[in-house]
Amino acid sequence: MSKIIDLSHRIEKQLPTELVSFMRVAGEVAASQGQSLYLVGGVVRDLLLGRTNLDLDLVVEGNAINLAQQLAQINQGKITTHPRFNTAKLQWNKWSVDFATARSETYDKPGALPRVKHGSLARDLFRRDFTINTMAIELVPSRYGELIDRYGGRNDLEHELIRVLHKKSFIDDATRIWRGLRYEQRLDFQLEPNTLQLLKRDIPMLDTISGDRIRHELELILKEKYPEKVLRRAEELYVLHRLHPTLKGNGWLAEKFEQARQLSYPNLPPVGLYLALLAYSLTNEESEQLISRLRLPKSLAQTLRDTISLKTKLESLANPKLTPSSVYYLLHDCSPPAITANSLASDSPVAQQNIKLFLNRLRYVKLALNGDDLVRMGIPTGPQIKEILQLLHEARLDGKVTSNQGEEVLVKRWVNLANS
Ligand code: CTP
Repeated sequence: MSKIIDLSHRIEKQLPTELVSFMRVAGEVAASQGQSLYLVGGVVRDLLLGRTNLDLDLVVEGNAINLAQQLAQINQGKITTHPRFNTAKLQWNKWSVDFATARSETYDKPGALPRVKHGSLARDLFRRDFTINTMAIELVPSRYGELIDRYGGRNDLEHELIRVLHKKSFIDDATRIWRGLRYEQRLDFQLEPNTLQLLKRDIPMLDTISGDRIRHELELILKEKYPEKVLRRAEELYVLHRLHPTLKGNGWLAEKFEQARQLSYPNLPPVGLYLALLAYSLTNEESEQLISRLRLPKSLAQTLRDTISLKTKLESLANPKLTPSSVYYLLHDCSPPAITANSLASDSPVAQQNIKLFLNRLRYVKLALNGDDLVRMGIPTGPQIKEILQLLHEARLDGKVTSNQGEEVLVKRWVNLANS
């Protein structure tokens, strides 16, 4: 029999007191209902690695919704349930915990969503992607803190290896190809040689995955600390190629991603900015192919389109004699991430300066007067109102008027000129 590994001290040390107490109570309530309860997946992996992770995933051998409902009463928390999968999310104060009923999954065809059946913890762990994600911790009081490691997860953690559980893993779910690269680069681990062979073999299976699911994986990558490392590895293995054959995860991208992070600090760069940089070298047609492969939502699709079309305006923006209003008209209908991506990609300090001027000041310039004010000043309603407002806006942008009073004076002067 293998030695019992007790992780209760790690739980105490690494997780906030409120979550620790919650898990103790959850284990007691589960036991009182005759159910077994486990902490599973990423949080167990990260507890063993000493990495912060507050995303608690609990698996119940029994009925997750019943247990979550009872705990919601004790904690006065809000509960969201999905009866179809028998899962629940419990939220209270700043905490959120996911409950799932132990299940097994089968796949009707590659890339399809799994068919789900309730089952034991062992089956639930076996359906998972990599051994390092298959560990669980007992939460019922009699065994609280005991590690369950059926598939050699701890050994792989020690040897810093990403390993699938069976030969068909990437065929069942090719998003695991991207997930594998994400974990490998995040943790600075290696794909275990056999897993690497299977991954290479199954790369064509990526084409069986829907745009929404691939986009989701890409978004997860772009939330990593260094997404460029994953993209570099994905290029090396021809995984990036499957998103679009011309995409590159090269040194240029790494440099621009780093600059994007510095610019966005302390926040992470928006996904749109990272995507715009990734797609920067694409032509119009190629970016349309990427948009449709990833089924990008409207705003992200617009960011990519703006990014590509703005490339052709960079030369004009590099003219030092450009007036602020001309800068404004070149940029005003582009999305901000597209503008920032072009600024980062441009070699021209003048273009960068003009873009900075637009982003920091020009896009916020507003008029004091509106159409009603002009009518009150005696200007007849009609298209000239819009024209005058546009001229005024231009004057404001170029600093020809700087105050509300100045706007009125200018309008009166134009009206007088027109009438003389
Ligand atoms: N999982 C899987 N195959 C997938 C997605 C998820 O097997 N395509 C499993 C993994 O075992 C994972 C668990 O479901 O541990 C939960 O998924 P997720 O929340 O994405 O994983 P975490 O390990 O929490 O990942 P991260 O550290 O990135 O939050």
